[in-house]
Amino acid sequence: MTEITAVRGFKDILPTESFIWRLVEDKARDLANRFGYQEMRAPILERTELFARGIGETTDIVEKEMYTLADRSGDKITLRPEATAGLARAVLENNLVENGRPLKLYCLGPMFRYERPQKGRQRQFHQLDVEVFADPGPYIDAEIIVLLRDFLLELGLTDTEVKLNSLGCPKCRPAFREKLIAFLEAKKDSLCPDCQRRLTRNPLRVLDCKVDSCLKATLDAPSLADGLCPECQDHLSGVTGALKSLNVSYFLEPRLVRGLDYYTRTAFEVHSPRLGAQSAVAGGGRYDGLLKELGGPDLPGVGFAVGLERLILILSQTGDLTAPKPDYYLAVLTPEGLGPAFTLAHRLRSGGLTVATDWEAGSLKSRLKRADRLGANRVIMLGPDELANGEVTVRDMVTKEQTKKSITGEDFF
Ligand code: HAM
Repeated sequence: MTEITAVRGFKDILPTESFIWRLVEDKARDLANRFGYQEMRAPILERTELFARGIGETTDIVEKEMYTLADRSGDKITLRPEATAGLARAVLENNLVENGRPLKLYCLGPMFRYERPQKGRQRQFHQLDVEVFADPGPYIDAEIIVLLRDFLLELGLTDTEVKLNSLGCPKCRPAFREKLIAFLEAKKDSLCPDCQRRLTRNPLRVLDCKVDSCLKATLDAPSLADGLCPECQDHLSGVTGALKSLNVSYFLEPRLVRGLDYYTRTAFEVHSPRLGAQSAVAGGGRYDGLLKELGGPDLPGVGFAVGLERLILILSQTGDLTAPKPDYYLAVLTPEGLGPAFTLAHRLRSGGLTVATDWEAGSLKSRLKRADRLGANRVIMLGPDELANGEVTVRDMVTKEQTKKSITGEDFF
């Protein structure tokens, strides 16, 4: 029979990698906690309509990347392609915004998009997602960018770049959109088939297309930066001012357009030179119309998500990260030693020590080899002499120094 393999684009996180995941997740929780954000765990399955309405019918995600299925009662459900829409739904459904007071949340977990798998791009991937609801001011946009910057810095990533833009608001964007459509109509023949389709449906996305002919055709396209209304300009200066006050470097990138339709005003991405084609390690922005679009009150929102696979890809290239090692390897040399060793291992583990062992007796040479492979700092040896004396021999694997301890484990602490 042929062996069953994992679904394309879905990856196992192996024991040799999972410690990096824990490190990243622990750092995320620690930092979110320091900034006063609370963890939210939302379902992975949502009604398809949530994403169609939230992310936008004409986005690549909704048009071609969602894992959508009908459940046994015929309801259309979708594996979440991102977290924002689900968190917004949960906030509304559970009335989490009290009297309009800001609500700061984060969530960690898997997302699903049917994209072509390649380095840094999978069909199941993970995000740290941070969202703030009901705070309209520029300081909160800056705060989440600082949180993201600190998260990356504290993990040792010093060479990432923040790209920042304002996408305007329902007051100023329609006029810009019309201007852009007029510009693009004249260049239609030079645009790729995707952009020709986007031209009237989602013209801003054309500015973000990486196809050469589209890049060339849009070199002198009208700039969003010139079309912002005074309120959007003020908001953007508020954000950049706050970032400058903490020396957070950023690049204003007037062509930065995100792949989700809910954004208003602030939009940003963090890129790493170490990632190649899929260089965005994080992206986010403000989405002041989303809660209303989902049937809730007119409350603003802002947030970002970090792609954890991409982050871990960079970390494993740069950092000298090592998996935690067991304090002890328990080497049982004769079958009679197994029983006393079983009791000893539990005593030590209950006292908080990490003890690795195999429940088989073997030669000292084979046991030491095993201890070495597991990277144990010390080996507890239990042979016939030790057993007769009610002792064990503890060998430090670095200094090779040996000491005797009681087989009861009492003098290990
Ligand atoms: P996004 O830009 O679609 O934004 O995704 C954020 C990050 O997730 C990307 O920068 C990338 O690192 C990672 N990512 C996306 N797709 C994949 C994939 N197929 N494989 C591996 N990593 C991937 C959002 O998802 C928004 N919800 C962010 C947000 C939160 N905006 C406001 N609040």
